[in-house]
Amino acid sequence: MAVPIAILQLGKGTVGTPLIGQIAAQSGVIRERLGIELRYVAIAGRIEVVYRPAGIELSEWPRQLEARKTTSVVDLIDQIARDVAHPKILVDATDAEGMVALHARAMASGFHVVTCNKKPLAGPLADFQRLRAQSRAARRHYLHEVTVGAGLPVIGTLRDLVDSGDQIISIEGCFSGTLNFLCAGLDRERPFSEILTEARDRGYTEPDPREDLSGQDVARKALILAREAGLAVEPQAVALSPFCEVGRDGDVGSFLAAAEEMDGGFARRWREAAGRKARLRYVATVDQGCGAGLREVPADGPMGCLRGAENVFSFSTARYADSPLVVSGPGAGPEVTAAGAFGDILRVARAVACEERGE
Ligand SMILES: NC(=O)c1ccc[n+]([C@@H]2O[C@H](COP(=O)([O-])OP(=O)(O)OC[C@H]3O[C@@H](n4cnc5c(N)ncnc54)[C@H](OP(=O)(O)O)[C@@H]3O)[C@@H](O)[C@H]2O)c1
Repeated sequence: MAVPIAILQLGKGTVGTPLIGQIAAQSGVIRERLGIELRYVAIAGRIEVVYRPAGIELSEWPRQLEARKTTSVVDLIDQIARDVAHPKILVDATDAEGMVALHARAMASGFHVVTCNKKPLAGPLADFQRLRAQSRAARRHYLHEVTVGAGLPVIGTLRDLVDSGDQIISIEGCFSGTLNFLCAGLDRERPFSEILTEARDRGYTEPDPREDLSGQDVARKALILAREAGLAVEPQAVALSPFCEVGRDGDVGSFLAAAEEMDGGFARRWREAAGRKARLRYVATVDQGCGAGLREVPADGPMGCLRGAENVFSFSTARYADSPLVVSGPGAGPEVTAAGAFGDILRVARAVACEERGE
């Protein structure tokens, strides 16, 4: 008999919805090939929820949503912990602040955690350490591959390097699919405001694109990589120069409506760089500290050649000293991000199924 694994998913937006679709489409193969039954028991947004302890019929879930009776996700976690006996995974596909306590509570209540949400891992160092400690103490998996490089194997590669005793000298590259999409569009002399709108429509940007443009999203990724590499870095220590100045006044709509005012300035900067046979890219570095900013790079180098929403991560290490280990590919987008989270869910599910079967 297949090992049932219950899923509680928070977030049913740009990433959360395709994730449910991918799991629904593959569930028969996973049951057959891996002997695992991935069973969604709850899907929740900020206001609505569908909760079926015996399993949600996935072709029906949007129609089954109803107003959340309680505003507290903690109550939902406690209820599932009481109602569902088999192994459980909490998937955080939200962009919500303040999820550290919730992730820790979920692990204490027996849930493994897969998070797409970077914020719990990129706040104060003490929060990162608390989540690590809770994962060890509760013997629960805490996976977050998607938080850096979307579906690319970045965190897994770094963990393998560190755990196998390699020494990380630096990690450098373009960590933002959204910002690279903008840079590559500007290379082709498209107006900044037009490319930004397209990036948003394609689901590349953060829910608030000012998180991308301020460099904040890249800073979070750099912090997560630094911490995975064993550096004790606080957010305020990241030397960040924004992609462009963005105010925080007004809502996302009014910010996007005013973006045209920046078209001329971007076109001029890109023309000047092209005149020097260079390209501009938003480059992040993790070495003894972390930093990110817009930089001129050779047009024919690994960063200058990136297209669309691609990312590149170059790991220089004691073992990869002469030539860095490079991970590159699409670094944003709903389907690849959902696929990365699906991969984490499968990693947990395989390990749990082996334990359940006593293998
Ligand atoms: N897009 C990408 O390429 C990409 C790549 C890597 C990582 N990510 C990360 O993936 C996460 C989701 O991004 P997205 O683009 O899917 O965002 P989104 O479209 O805005 O969806 C966010 C979802 O989270 C829900 N939500 C927010 N706060 C919540 C709370 N406190 N409790 C329960 N649900 C809550 C929202 O509920 P409602 O349905 O009620 O609005 C919505 O369903 C973000 O953390 C983002 O950084 C995205």
